[in-house]
Amino acid sequence: MADETRPQAASDVMALAARYLMGTYRREPVVIVRGSGSRVWDAEGRCYLDFVSGLGVNAVGHCHPRVVQALTQQASRLLHVSNLYYIEPQALLAKWLVEHGPFDRAFFCNSGAEAVEAAIKLARRHQRNLGQDRFEIVTALGSFHGRTMGALSATGQPRYHAGFEPLVPGFRYVPFDDPQALDQAVGPQTAAILLEVVQGEGGVHPASRAFVEAARRAADRAGALLIVDEVQTGLGRTGRLFAFEHYGVVPDAVALAKALGGGVAIGALLAREPAASAFGPGQHASTFGGNPLACAAALAAMQVLEEEDLVGRAERMGAYLRERLVAMARRTGHVSEVRGIGLMLAVELDGPARPVADVCRARGLLVNVVTERALRLLPPLVIDEREADEAVAILESAIAEAAGR
Ligand SMILES: Cc1ncc(COP(=O)(O)O)c(C=O)c1O
Repeated sequence: MADETRPQAASDVMALAARYLMGTYRREPVVIVRGSGSRVWDAEGRCYLDFVSGLGVNAVGHCHPRVVQALTQQASRLLHVSNLYYIEPQALLAKWLVEHGPFDRAFFCNSGAEAVEAAIKLARRHQRNLGQDRFEIVTALGSFHGRTMGALSATGQPRYHAGFEPLVPGFRYVPFDDPQALDQAVGPQTAAILLEVVQGEGGVHPASRAFVEAARRAADRAGALLIVDEVQTGLGRTGRLFAFEHYGVVPDAVALAKALGGGVAIGALLAREPAASAFGPGQHASTFGGNPLACAAALAAMQVLEEEDLVGRAERMGAYLRERLVAMARRTGHVSEVRGIGLMLAVELDGPARPVADVCRARGLLVNVVTERALRLLPPLVIDEREADEAVAILESAIAEAAGR
């Protein structure tokens, strides 16, 4: 029987959204109602290969049965309790994250921006604990760290700042991948360097080894923290658990979110000692941070990552997909670059990316337009060769069609 209280058609949902939501997104005309593995279905029953993955969230695939089971079991036991009490899934998740990397302690929040906010506060608090009043955070031009005022101020892209000034003081931007400029910007006033080692929203640009090594050296020289924003790159996306592992550099802290919850909102800040112990009671907090439901989902997602070797799979499938994309680029002649690491890839076109993405969608492939001429591919880490081939074939036909217009 039809549920009269719910919209009956995709066009109804779009009309409701247009009327009642703030216009913060330029949405594609699709209402997605179901997902499984690497695929999603819209309200009209059309199936799409999802190479957007909720912008990097659905790393273990849509509705992974382990995550769904953990969520349903936790939902029937305990949905929420304050951090004034101990929370079992939260403690277990912290243990997993600490034992799988070089970090000593975790703080949980609800999003990437919140993890970055926590990182900024941790850096300042850590310096204060050392008797230093330094507060400046050095970040890179072209970076993206989130939309809250601190994370926005850390973001080195004026187009995101426009209309929201004044920004939070105490941020200094350096050109991305310029080791010398970074070295010169770091001094006795620097509390931390905050970087993405692969800029995601900026267009999928991996930093050079020299840049990341220079960041570690400059931070050590100045007594500043090195914090890596792994909200997009973290937890397997690049073929390593953390993207900084590609660089042989260990940061003092990382910000995580996106893939952590297996589809559920959660963020985390992980830090090494002594910074890991910089916050005392009451100095930072989040009502929902580390809640039982999100932590149970995240713990299941991390177990899936480990048991299905999705990190190794991201490396293998990343190499496979990249190879197919490079071959496709040669055939079409309309791709100027294929770049990225693991399953975090971008295809730079010789014309606008939007029409290509539109044709892809019409043919059953979701891809994201990350810059004017670049498409970003962030498939779930569970994709197989057949799905990669299917995506490349659709992309190739879409590029040919867009170029022929
Ligand atoms: C590197 C990076 N940091 C922070 C964020 C902000 O995360 P959220 O949207 O969960 O606040 C993003 C989101 O795309 C990101 O890519």
